[in-house]
Amino acid sequence: MYIALLGRQPALGMAELEKVHGDVKWFSDHSAVITTDEFSIEKLGGTLKAGRIVATLPRGDWRTSSMKLVKAYTDAWSGVEGKITLGISAYGFDISPRDVQKTGIVLKQKLKKLDVSLRLIPNQEIALNTAASHHNKLGLSSNKVELLVVRARNGKVIIAESTGAQNITALARRDQERPKRDAFVGMLPPKLAQMMINLATPDSVDKDSRALRILDPFCGTGVIPQEALLLDYDAYGTDLSEKMIAYTQTNLEWLKKTHHIDEHTWELKADDAMTARWTQPIDAVACESYLGQPFSAPPSPGKLTEVRGNCNKIITAFLENIGPQLESGTPLCVGVPAWRSTDDSFTHLPLINTLEQLGFTRHEFANVRNEELLYARDDQVVARELLVLRKK
Ligand SMILES: C[S@@+](CC[C@H](N)C(=O)[O-])C[C@H]1O[C@@H](n2cnc3c(N)ncnc32)[C@H](O)[C@@H]1O
Repeated sequence: MYIALLGRQPALGMAELEKVHGDVKWFSDHSAVITTDEFSIEKLGGTLKAGRIVATLPRGDWRTSSMKLVKAYTDAWSGVEGKITLGISAYGFDISPRDVQKTGIVLKQKLKKLDVSLRLIPNQEIALNTAASHHNKLGLSSNKVELLVVRARNGKVIIAESTGAQNITALARRDQERPKRDAFVGMLPPKLAQMMINLATPDSVDKDSRALRILDPFCGTGVIPQEALLLDYDAYGTDLSEKMIAYTQTNLEWLKKTHHIDEHTWELKADDAMTARWTQPIDAVACESYLGQPFSAPPSPGKLTEVRGNCNKIITAFLENIGPQLESGTPLCVGVPAWRSTDDSFTHLPLINTLEQLGFTRHEFANVRNEELLYARDDQVVARELLVLRKK
């Protein structure tokens, strides 16, 4: 059993876990328990840290959790040779970073008496941030350990040994070092692209023993094709704009030079998603569709009606066009716009209520409501609403 600590928008991370692992349950507001023997954080966009569960306390405060931890690890590490690097991260406790640090110091003193040397990572917060965990390589070898101590609202506590944190260096590099970027088209964060691809995970992983291929019909600068290649898929991108296809080509060539994607191929073509005839195979579709113009403040009602109508028309025509070209059961994750109002509610696209008529079934998640699958930073007016669908 594993615990996953989810990102800023936990519902998205949870939906992703559910699609990839199936047997997943909420533990606290920001964490999930996964029943699996194997868990790999590298392929997930919405999980910040994960750990193998080593103990569960039915009810615990920091004092009892801390005592348990000190006792268990004094025993476990007595006789260990070489230095151990330790980070302790607490979640859901009403304590200060000093309280966490104290636990580490008590453990360090006890181990010192047993001639075991411990290097403690200092806590700026009660939980180490992902950067600290990643840069110190915590969880990646037996002498670099991060203990995750997570408390749910009902008082239950899980203690887990981290198996690694999200590789934020690699994600930042893929976001910032790509040669072609375009602020107007919008920058899809690689993490969100990973989540979208995982939300469209094809059922059969070994179809005809060829690589599975993901289509992005609005590929822009190519973040989804890029992440698809890194997730072990072949990529197929189309976009109305010749310039965007050239950008994606340059970006994927850079990816090929800088990352290991040699077994995988890509195909790109300029085409209108409302009329395109795509070549097969298409095993899944993941795209951030047309989002309309960007806004720095909520638009006037008249402007919103115009932009929403326009986006609705284009995306409806796209779904009508692609539906008959997909095999029944093909999964899709389509990012569509939703607009934030001054009262922080969102205006959605009308087509969300006509998906069945358009020939698609909307996926029902066990742990999250579909309305929660909305990605937006706090200051963003245009959110991406993720429609997780299956061709009927
Ligand atoms: C929100 S952007 C996608 C950005 C992309 N995810 C990226 O990583 O850069 C939407 C894209 O849809 C394209 N587009 C707009 N209307 C289209 C249409 N009818 N058919 C195909 N592409 C279209 C635009 O050129 C733009 O690149």
